[in-house]
Amino acid sequence: MPEIHGMRNAQKNKNDEFYTSLEDIEKEMKYYKTYFKDKVVFCNCDDPFESNFFKYFAMNFNYLGLKKIISTCYAGSPIITEQLSLFDVKGLTIKKEESKKPYKIEITEVIDNNNDGAIDLADVEYLIKNKKNTLTLLKEDGDFRSKECIELLKQSDIVVTNPPFSLFREFVSQLIEYNKDFLIIGNVNAIAYRDFFHLIKDNKVWMGASIHSGDREFRVPSTYPLKASGTRIDEKGNKYIRVKGVRWWTNLDYKERHEKLILYKKYNPEEFQKFDNYDAINVDKVTDIPYDYSGLMGVPITFLDKYNPEQFRIIASSQTGCHPDEMVLKKYSDYYGYTQDRKSNGRTGATMGNNPILVKDDKKHVYYENKDGIRVQSTYCRIFIENIEIGEDNNGRE
Ligand SMILES: C[S@@+](CC[C@H](N)C(=O)[O-])C[C@H]1O[C@@H](n2cnc3c(N)ncnc32)[C@H](O)[C@@H]1O
Repeated sequence: MPEIHGMRNAQKNKNDEFYTSLEDIEKEMKYYKTYFKDKVVFCNCDDPFESNFFKYFAMNFNYLGLKKIISTCYAGSPIITEQLSLFDVKGLTIKKEESKKPYKIEITEVIDNNNDGAIDLADVEYLIKNKKNTLTLLKEDGDFRSKECIELLKQSDIVVTNPPFSLFREFVSQLIEYNKDFLIIGNVNAIAYRDFFHLIKDNKVWMGASIHSGDREFRVPSTYPLKASGTRIDEKGNKYIRVKGVRWWTNLDYKERHEKLILYKKYNPEEFQKFDNYDAINVDKVTDIPYDYSGLMGVPITFLDKYNPEQFRIIASSQTGCHPDEMVLKKYSDYYGYTQDRKSNGRTGATMGNNPILVKDDKKHVYYENKDGIRVQSTYCRIFIENIEIGEDNNGRE
């Protein structure tokens, strides 16, 4: 199995330098054109020289009818100084030992030489030659949480970027606090964050349109060690890694998220076992959601890739903080864990926490057993949903 990087690793190692491909940005942006007319777009984790977000908006400035692009570069970005020395930037003297100078670029005009609505050249130097566009050093460090960047956020309409995954929660809560539209890249596992889950549940945030499976390629700095397979170096020496679990997250609506998931399975209690500790049935695959069950269903988190808010209601998730305490009907401190060769793993069932539990032994994984010989096993995280379209009285029980 090729080892593919996860953003979880990024979070652990605080390695936030992953550069999004232009192709991934183009594929997603095509769902939202109408939102951008006369708008100020803020790319607040984006060194314009490196960021394809900046490049995309510069190239499509006239096509989208943008009012302004603001892009800010963070002091921690490893690449900025050499490029800045190309320009006559007021207040910029670069000393050798002083390597990082955060700055902002504001674009209000992109001359369309061919008159075709797009520019071929997303060259920062070219853009800055236009007196209506400015490159200015920041007083602070370009952190999206800094006062200066918050002032820029206030002037903006839509934030579009791939923020550092290690700061994803803070990034989103700032967008919510300032009531901004956004289209950002994150990881599917972000739904485990309590605050973020509640935004999804309340239909304030949803998945974007274009990525629902597989992994995506990101460019990384030249210093990045390429240990895993699934990595590559191109002919110019640029390094790339593949990251799994990537998703767009947004609060911009698009038609496709209102398409109905076609359900074909009829409910039967043998196939859809009830959890032992939640009043819900277990559904292992999203495509197997029964069409005629009106009670709570525990589905894998990939449900969000198919979630239509007119078809289903999200009630809770099994993650701690994402459900009321009273939803968990049972603890398992009187159960003891065993491996399949009947060796104690030294734990009680209480260590399963809030995981959804089924009375079963699949003969493959660790199980927990009580004094009566009842065996239970835990499933992965589940999102608890209801089918809105089924009448209360049906309840899947004929
Ligand atoms: C995942 S990378 C994405 C870069 C760029 N947005 C893109 O998609 O190509 C996240 C970027 O955020 C920058 N960054 C890290 N901490 C930051 C902070 N506190 N404020 C603003 N940017 C930050 C990093 O330097 C890095 O370039």
